[in-house]
Amino acid sequence: MQVPDIIIAVDGYSSTGKSTFAKLVAKEFAFLYLDSGAMYRGVTLFAMEKGFIDAEGTIDEKALRKSLGELELHFEHGAEGTLLYSGERCIEKEIRTMEVSSHVSPVSAIPFVRNWVDERLHAFSEKGRVIMDGRDIGTTVFPNAEVKVFMVAEPEIRAQRRFDELKAKGENPDFDEVMKNLLERDYIDSHRETSPLKRAEDAYVMDNSDMTLHEETVWLRGLLQGKFGILE
Ligand code: DC
Repeated sequence: MQVPDIIIAVDGYSSTGKSTFAKLVAKEFAFLYLDSGAMYRGVTLFAMEKGFIDAEGTIDEKALRKSLGELELHFEHGAEGTLLYSGERCIEKEIRTMEVSSHVSPVSAIPFVRNWVDERLHAFSEKGRVIMDGRDIGTTVFPNAEVKVFMVAEPEIRAQRRFDELKAKGENPDFDEVMKNLLERDYIDSHRETSPLKRAEDAYVMDNSDMTLHEETVWLRGLLQGKFGILE
């Protein structure tokens, strides 16, 4: 299928499988995959390591704003997929821990953090033919994206997916804790003032509670075919 050089925005709640879906689509149609959540996680890890987040989770925004210029985040795309780097250091593993997950939503609600990330997302996407996943890609980052997908799934199914993912990574998660974090992030992400998570009016909703990955790509193929005509 020949898909034109478009931007595909994939938004939705936490652990709806956005990145798995976006990676698969990127591979199938030779798109560049960019994970915007990884950028927020990278900023969060930076803030944690600098000691800008205290034991109660309070963020020293002033200190973070002052130091953000030191941070250089970029993606490297290779055989292992898309990995996030902070300078020379691959931080892909560190940004996926429960600890980072528990602080990332408040960090990503800070307007200057969002501007910092958005500028970089635009620079990374300069050449087009990009599929990017996140919370506000179709509404704020790329409001003119040609294709917008909004992913939803039942909370229990999402928590189970996240739980399995953490286990596979060698962590020892507690299911209730995972569920609590997920619901908390849903709430903060969709109630913050700047670029809250919400479906763009022109986004197609995919409820993948009972869908296989294969069914998800067939769904997208149908959508692309409908939009761009016969693409074989
Ligand atoms: O997709 P993820 O779970 O890795 O994202 C981590 C957090 O980053 C998420 O809880 C909210 C924030 N985020 C955001 O605010 N805007 C985006 N475009 C992507 C992620």
